[in-house]
Amino acid sequence: MAKPQQYLNFIAGRWVSAKSGKNFPNINPANREEILGFFPDSGPEDVNAAVQAAESAFPEWRLVPPPGRGEIILKAGLLMKERKEELARLMTQEMGKVLRETRGDVQEAIDMAYFIAGEGRRLFGKTTTSELRDKFAMTIRMPVGVCGLITPWNFPMAIPSWKIFPSLICGNTMVFKPAEDTPLSALKMIEILEEAGLPKGVVNLVQGGVKTGEAMVRHPKIRLISFTGSCEVGRLVAEHCGKNLKRCSLEMGGKNAQIVMEDADLDLAIEGAVWGAYGTTGQRCTATSRIFVQEKIFSSFKKSFLERSRKIKIGDGLKEGVEMGPLINEAQLKRVRDYVEIGKKEGAKLEMGGEPARGKGLEKGFFFEPTLFTEVDPKMRIAQEEIFGPVTCLIPFKRFEDAIRMVNDSSYGLSSSIYSRDVNRAMEAIRDIEAGITYINGPTIGAEVHLPFGGVKNTGNGHREGGETAIDIFSEWKSVFVDYSGKLQKAQIDVD
Ligand code: UN1
Repeated sequence: MAKPQQYLNFIAGRWVSAKSGKNFPNINPANREEILGFFPDSGPEDVNAAVQAAESAFPEWRLVPPPGRGEIILKAGLLMKERKEELARLMTQEMGKVLRETRGDVQEAIDMAYFIAGEGRRLFGKTTTSELRDKFAMTIRMPVGVCGLITPWNFPMAIPSWKIFPSLICGNTMVFKPAEDTPLSALKMIEILEEAGLPKGVVNLVQGGVKTGEAMVRHPKIRLISFTGSCEVGRLVAEHCGKNLKRCSLEMGGKNAQIVMEDADLDLAIEGAVWGAYGTTGQRCTATSRIFVQEKIFSSFKKSFLERSRKIKIGDGLKEGVEMGPLINEAQLKRVRDYVEIGKKEGAKLEMGGEPARGKGLEKGFFFEPTLFTEVDPKMRIAQEEIFGPVTCLIPFKRFEDAIRMVNDSSYGLSSSIYSRDVNRAMEAIRDIEAGITYINGPTIGAEVHLPFGGVKNTGNGHREGGETAIDIFSEWKSVFVDYSGKLQKAQIDVD
């Protein structure tokens, strides 16, 4: 095997190593012996250099007209489109999900580029009335300044695109730290932005782990942190940002539920549940980890769900016909195994899976079987905590109201779904489910870039990525008054 390549950080338009000279390996989760490259293990001094570069680039970048910024983003989108297959292959190697899904991941970044490029010609504010004569009032958007972007490994290009492109169109400069497990996809995206003509210092890439992220969150010159990841880490990020009055946007966990009513198209509901639970090996914050099925159809649902799930072909995501790749790393494998034990101890019934997947070609990867629990009390930890693996629970319910109550009995509120042919029930579910996303007759996964993405309760802190709402994260409002009366007019003071 060829010697793994050494990759670099991108700071002030130059490719540089970490000041410490330290590196970390990028490992293929389908084959832990395969090292895909070494990446700089960045420390506070590297973050500092990146922040300085972003600060120096800001005065110029904020004055580039937004349609001009949009043109660079569009060009980046077109380059990604051209290289979609190559990018998807690299992503499968470092992240594990199957090619069909990594193609989708790259496509999501392309879609975001196209969508946000167009925003460059909108970025609308409002014009409105004034309470005084001959006075004009309007709102405009301003950039925030230097932003810190911290992204997870499960969507190595899509999630960075949700942050980088909206942040750019608003005129911010930034420091970007992708997850340690997927440094290569992030680097490829930055290479593309460079090629698309992004000026030096506007986006700076620092590779690394917790230490690197911490240095960003603590850095006084970073005005905004946008973070996607676990609730535990998100809480720490929020604490720091709170103390230092930094803007902070968090996207965290989910414990997403699918409701299946007895009048549902059963085949469709099962297909949706299998995809929602085991797609991306369950490593989506939108994954279906609770399935509530109405009593009358519970046993037939269970039977077909098991039949279909048992047929899922596990393996290296690059191989033709493989439907489910490995978990991301050893720690995640341990976490999923631990949760299976917790479920058994709590008294749930393990119906399927629960073990690392074995077989030819699976020896060296972090593969895990699709896992199903029944006889689950909705209060059990496996029904309350985010596992982030191919583990789901099947829970019966009697009345629609019971299902809604159990769906909402969660500290999270990201995605949700209901399968029913009764439009009134569907509308009630839309009204009553506490979640940022509700699907009717579709699985809990599969959000689109032009709609707000995010959740309620512990899933986030009130922001939404995607759509126009992403622009609200990365810009500040300014209210502008133009008085053309030629005299001093006093608002809120009655005219004598
Ligand atoms: C995530 O799991 O972190 O809606 C994001 C979806 C994808 C994005 C998921 N478009 O499932």
